[in-house]
Order: sequence, then structure tokens, then C-alpha cells
Amino acid sequence: MPSSIYAGTDLTEHLGELIKLQTNQNVLLFTDKGIEANHLVDPLTAYFKAEGIAYEIEDEIKPEPSYVQVDELLHKVSQYDFGVIVAIGGGSVMDAAKLISLLRGADYTIQDLIKDASIAKKQVPSVMIPTTTGTGSEATINAIVTIPEKQVKFGIVSGSMLPDLVLLDVNNVRKLPKSILAASAVDALSHCVECYTSKNATTFSNDIAAIGARYIFQNIVAAYSEPDNIDAREALLMGAFYGGVAITASGTTAVHALSYPLGGKFHIAHGVSNAILFKQVMAFNKDAITPQLASLADFVFADNNLATADEKADFMIDKIAEIVKAVDIPTDLKQFGVKMEDLDFLIDSALQQTRLLDHNMKVLTRADVEQIYRSVLN
Ligand SMILES: NC(=O)c1ccc[n+]([C@@H]2O[C@H](COP(=O)([O-])OP(=O)(O)OC[C@H]3O[C@@H](n4cnc5c(N)ncnc54)[C@H](O)[C@@H]3O)[C@@H](O)[C@H]2O)c1
Ligand SMILES: [Zn+2]
Repeated sequence: MPSSIYAGTDLTEHLGELIKLQTNQNVLLFTDKGIEANHLVDPLTAYFKAEGIAYEIEDEIKPEPSYVQVDELLHKVSQYDFGVIVAIGGGSVMDAAKLISLLRGADYTIQDLIKDASIAKKQVPSVMIPTTTGTGSEATINAIVTIPEKQVKFGIVSGSMLPDLVLLDVNNVRKLPKSILAASAVDALSHCVECYTSKNATTFSNDIAAIGARYIFQNIVAAYSEPDNIDAREALLMGAFYGGVAITASGTTAVHALSYPLGGKFHIAHGVSNAILFKQVMAFNKDAITPQLASLADFVFADNNLATADEKADFMIDKIAEIVKAVDIPTDLKQFGVKMEDLDFLIDSALQQTRLLDHNMKVLTRADVEQIYRSVLN
């Protein structure tokens, strides 16, 4: 877990609790152009100015960054003198910033971390401030990068990248556009449900994943259809954080494994590719995860009035499909230019995601992966 976490509104002044402990109090502020255009950076820079804290802004991070872009970013920021990293943005900004917190001044490169992340050490303390309701990156030990030469995404995993301070400030998601809210919240929901049904699940990860799932299941449609429903948006921000904690304690499974090649080659947004696969993978897994889905149904929808575990598992799978539809995410790959000819690439690439597939309750054969992709290819 990150060592210090605040949730609520107007949390900026808590930055001082970390910054003022550092010998070098200069801040490197990571963000992207979308966040800046929405003025989410302004309260931070106002605070730095008021407190006399020197800062530089780095806003060149592109959505779903590649390891090459992170390497370029590292070279670019080497010109700055900073002792604290503050990242405000979605998973793309936070993942890049988490990697820079390991790479700045280190004697290893990002390519080394892709080969063996156990060598990583925290070089610069970091603060994460999420602005989407999705990745939970502020609580995970993962940073996801695209590997362009393999057209796939890859998770670099190291406990050293956990941030030192997290601010879950609802002000940052008040104006989050509906489509980003939807995709990122379904991503967070898949984190919770995959962790809950993972082979690697523990009592702790189940408790956390169940709370996260309840926040999201009960609020996602309201947050999507009622833009002024701040309580629903706040619940999603909390659910996304819980999803991140659950990932750290347990880990995602086949939804994410099959999703990575879709992000890596076709640049489908992470939340969207997960959403397309979510129901299909859960339906495939159902016979191995019926007790888990049933207990999640009883926790999240206590009044479900269903008699058998089988009915409860079906109910959860239907709920997942219902939510993806209600938030207007496509349910197949038609519009993303993915063709039947791409099937072999997708299958080969997904089968290489052993870090995630090993946690899936059911072993996926080549034929199983093919059947799942075919079901969303049409
Ligand atoms: N580290 C992890 O544990 C983890 C987990 C899941 C996903 N990821 C990674 O995170 C990335 C996706 O992150 P994401 O879904 O948060 O989206 P993102 O960070 O890619 O942002 C998507 C877009 O939304 C805009 N945006 C973000 N917040 C906004 C706001 N409040 N108002 C207006 N615009 C806003 C950004 O400017 C950007 O253009 C992927 O690379 C994915 O692989 C990481
Ligand atoms: Zn995810």
C-alpha cells in the first residue's frame, strides 16, 4: 500500500507533508495536455507558488506510453533538478511517472527493468493524483508500457514504484468526459472482478476487491448518465483505488491478458479492450469461478433473491454485459479494424502473457483463446 492516502476534496495542501521532508524540495510535475486543458494542474501550481516550492512541468506524456517514450522522457527530464515527483493524470501519466521514480539517476535502464524488474530501487519519492476513475495505478506495483517492436503491452512490476503519497481528490473527476469515465471505470471493475476470481486471491485481496466492485457496480451507470452526480463519481474514484490495491495483493487474469495485444497493436484504449472481453472471459471461466461470482453477487447485490450459486454466477455475468452496454462501450471489435487475419497474432501474443494467465482459475488452451477472440471478432 502507498504509505499515505487522503480522499476527499481540496487535498492539495497535503503535498507539503511529503515535499517538506525532502532535502531537495524541487518538484517535477508530470501531467498531460488533456489534464492541463481542464485546469486540473492549476491548484497544484498555485500551491507551489504560495509555498515557494520550485517546480517544472512535464506534459509530453502520450496516452498508453511505450517504453521508448518513457526512455525519451527520462532523458528530457535529466536537465531538471528535482527531489520529488508529483503526477496528476490517468494511468498513462502515473505509470510513466512511477517508472521515472525508479529510473532517475539509476545505473539500470528501462530495458533492464523489462528483463528483470527486481533490480529496481526507488530513486525519487513520488505523489500520485489520479484524474480518471480507472487504473488504480496510484496503488499498484505495476507500470504498463507498450513494446512497439512486439506490438504488445507489458507490465513492469516492482514494489519500489509504489507512491509515497496518494491524493484521491474528487475535484479531479468532476469534469471527466463521459467516455473516459466509462472506459476507465469498467477497467477498474475488471480489476476487482478478476482479482476476486483469481487463483492468487487472498482473504485480504478478496475483501478489498469486493468493496471496490460494490462501489463500481452500484455507481457506474449513475455516474455515466448523470454528469452532476458527484457522489457517484467519488464512489468510482474510490472503487478504482480499491481495484489497484486488489491488483497489488492478487493480480488480474485472462481479461487483461487477452486485452494487451489489442492495446499494443490496435491502440484500443485499455478500458475499452477490457470491456469488450470482460463478459466473454467470465463466461468462459464460469464453471471454475461459480462460487466466487456467487459470493460477489451476495456481497454487491445483497437483495438478489437468487437460490443457487449457478444462478448468481449467471446474474453477475449478465450484470457485467448490462453495464458495458449501458455506458455505450462496443461489445465487439468491428469498429477497431481488427480482422480475422489478425487472429494468429492475437492468440500468440495473448498466450505470452503468462504473468496474468497463470492466475486465471482455468488454463486457457490455444483453442480457448481463439474461441474467445472469435466471439468478439464477428
Ligand atoms: N499501472 C497499473 O496498474 C495500470 C492498471 C491499468 C491500466 N494501466 C494503464 O493505464 C493507461 C490508461 O490510463 P487511463 O485509462 O487512466 O487513461 P489515460 O491516462 O490514458 O488518459 C486518457 C485520456 O484522458 C484524458 N484525461 C484524463 N483525466 C482527465 C480529466 N479528469 N478530464 C479530462 N481529460 C482527462 C487524458 O488527457 C488522456 O487524453 C494504459 O496505458 C493502461 O495500460 C495501468
Ligand atoms: Zn486494467
